[in-house]
Amino acid sequence: MPNKQVRKVVFPVAGMGTRFLPASKAVPKEMLPVVDKPVIQYAVEEAKRAGIEQFIFVTGRGKHVIEDHFDHAYELESLLSEREKTDELRSLLEDLPKTGSVSFTRQQQPLGLGHAVWCARHFIGNEPFAVILPDDLVKAEPGVLSQMIAAYAKTGGNLVAVQDVPRERTKSYGIIAPGATRGDLTEVMGLVEKPKPAVAPSTLAIVGRYILQPELFDELERQKPGSGREIQLTDSMAKLIGRQPFHAVRFKGDRYDCGDKVGFLLANVALALDRPDLAPAFRQGLAALLKN
Ligand code: UTP
Repeated sequence: MPNKQVRKVVFPVAGMGTRFLPASKAVPKEMLPVVDKPVIQYAVEEAKRAGIEQFIFVTGRGKHVIEDHFDHAYELESLLSEREKTDELRSLLEDLPKTGSVSFTRQQQPLGLGHAVWCARHFIGNEPFAVILPDDLVKAEPGVLSQMIAAYAKTGGNLVAVQDVPRERTKSYGIIAPGATRGDLTEVMGLVEKPKPAVAPSTLAIVGRYILQPELFDELERQKPGSGREIQLTDSMAKLIGRQPFHAVRFKGDRYDCGDKVGFLLANVALALDRPDLAPAFRQGLAALLKN
């Protein structure tokens, strides 16, 4: 039984976003809107709904607009107030995280996801924490992190969210070697980063949600570069297997990879079709387009 609540989340957002060029040249890909909200805001809302209290962003060069997005915008707020746009103003203010609940640190060189998480170590200290990769936008009720925190109450230790992928896609993901399975929970016996389909231990791929124990930071400290010559989170997590409980959760929900152009476009379509204010006109326009 875990004796510590998960109160903190890390958002590693220092990646260069090369798959999304030229859009990501001057604008962080996390700030691209899905319908009318930046990708990063979906991740923050998911964490808030899961009861997270501290939000730690690991940013890099050119990512400062993410900081501005989670801060007051006084001119805009007073303009909305003067023009009596009360709904817009209320919604902007509701979106703001509580004062003092947000921290930013920088990964000075993009040395890999594992290195980005390690950059947050002083904000985490000696307690379990969550990691969300905002690129993985998941339409789910309850949110994926809420589903994982419910599972964590039973398992403790480390948890990753997984999804079945076609075997030819294993080389794009961290893949688990599964052990005993009970319902949506599978014991993790091994982890491999981006294995070729022929040698992948399963087709269960990690998507961007983790609950991790602070001992991971000692492993990250020693971690040598792996796949893609980057310091891989998967390689350090693998070293905790056998020492601490380690499980995978098959979450319920639809996942869109917003770091990829097609995934991003699909997320926009799926979420727009869910919006009562937009769906009727959008559905009509889409149907006309698909006829051609
Ligand atoms: P990706 O593998 O999607 O890399 O990173 P990327 O640089 O963001 O995008 P591409 O592949 O060049 O298009 C997965 C997650 O890890 C973060 C990214 O910001 C993303 O959330 N990351 C990656 C870092 O924070 N630092 C790094 O050095 C690498």
